[in-house]
Amino acid sequence: MSLPPALIETDADLSALNTLRLPARARSLARPATLDALEQVLATRDPSQPLHIIGEGSNLVIQNDLPGLTLCPAMDGMAKVKEDEHCVWVAAGAGVHWDDLVGWTVEQGWQGLENLSLIPGTAGAAPFQNIGAYGVELSQVLEQVTVMEVATGRVTHFAAEECAFAYRDSRFKSRDRGRYVITGIELRLNKIPACNVSYGPLKEYFGHLPSDEISPASVRERVIAVRQSKLPDPAVLANAGSFFKNPVVTASKAGQLKKSFPGLVGYEQPEGIKLAAGWLIEQAGWKGRRLGPVGMHIEQALVLVNHGGATSDDVLALASAVRRDVWERFGVSLEQEPVLLP
Ligand code: EPU
Repeated sequence: MSLPPALIETDADLSALNTLRLPARARSLARPATLDALEQVLATRDPSQPLHIIGEGSNLVIQNDLPGLTLCPAMDGMAKVKEDEHCVWVAAGAGVHWDDLVGWTVEQGWQGLENLSLIPGTAGAAPFQNIGAYGVELSQVLEQVTVMEVATGRVTHFAAEECAFAYRDSRFKSRDRGRYVITGIELRLNKIPACNVSYGPLKEYFGHLPSDEISPASVRERVIAVRQSKLPDPAVLANAGSFFKNPVVTASKAGQLKKSFPGLVGYEQPEGIKLAAGWLIEQAGWKGRRLGPVGMHIEQALVLVNHGGATSDDVLALASAVRRDVWERFGVSLEQEPVLLP
């Protein structure tokens, strides 16, 4: 089967397709906007060559040029699928810009996505790393994910319980990496708002209000304001969001640390104490500090920023210096959050 020439671009520039703005090229790049186009691209690829799947590149460190085929799923459209007395089910194509979906659902008065406002990236990338912010994770509102299996072109649906969701993790990111292309998602939202304002900055702002006076639109507005005050806009200052996961340590390790560092910030989780990596990095002296063209953000030490002209070597050198200093000071190991390609 021969492909329409427009479907695959060769030697494509990826510098605008990764929000850290690292220079890189893809050997072949396809942006299928329909299931048929995706099936066609997969059927004609050379299976001995690597396959990379990217959305808007907002959680990526592209280390080198990408060999093989790079896929940007571009399925469009968002729609209400069904509703009952309490809930509404909404579907979105993998290529939909995440915050357009959040904005649209909030405008309808549906509740569930408002805490996830302004997260960069696509709807299709959201389940890959189980995006989360301000006390809510995608897994809590996701009904199912639609995927195409790379090897067979078969379309399958996975219910949320089948996605192995964990903190910034899913089967798509871990055990099934590269096996499926996410083509769409379906979410279950509430018609009667019950907003979650338990996270620090939201609690401070909304804590005094009765819950029926807190609308999804007001929470969205507040989340946007908080994000804009701390997190750099990737269109202005290149970054990939949090560069490390918040590390989870045992209660006894957290207790020891607390004795030496009374200001330690940690939150109890079922699996242990989740420490604020931003606090550890700040205490290790990296907040606002640069190493060559890259640095840790002045307002949020967990965000690695490219001040201009950085390469992946610069990014990885800074990441390893930060990891080393946090380890030496606290004995806590930081795990990189953005995906390293290839
Ligand atoms: N903190 C500092 N110094 C800093 C940054 C943070 O001391 O420079 C401490 C403060 O005590 C603050 C606490 O860390 O109260 C938590 O900071 P923040 O609320 O900014 O959240 P975070 O834990 O640093 C996580 C997510 C973010 C998400 C926010 C809000 C991860 C890896 N990051 O950051 O997600 O927006 O919570 O829910 O879990 C992303 O994944 O790219 C991302 C931005």
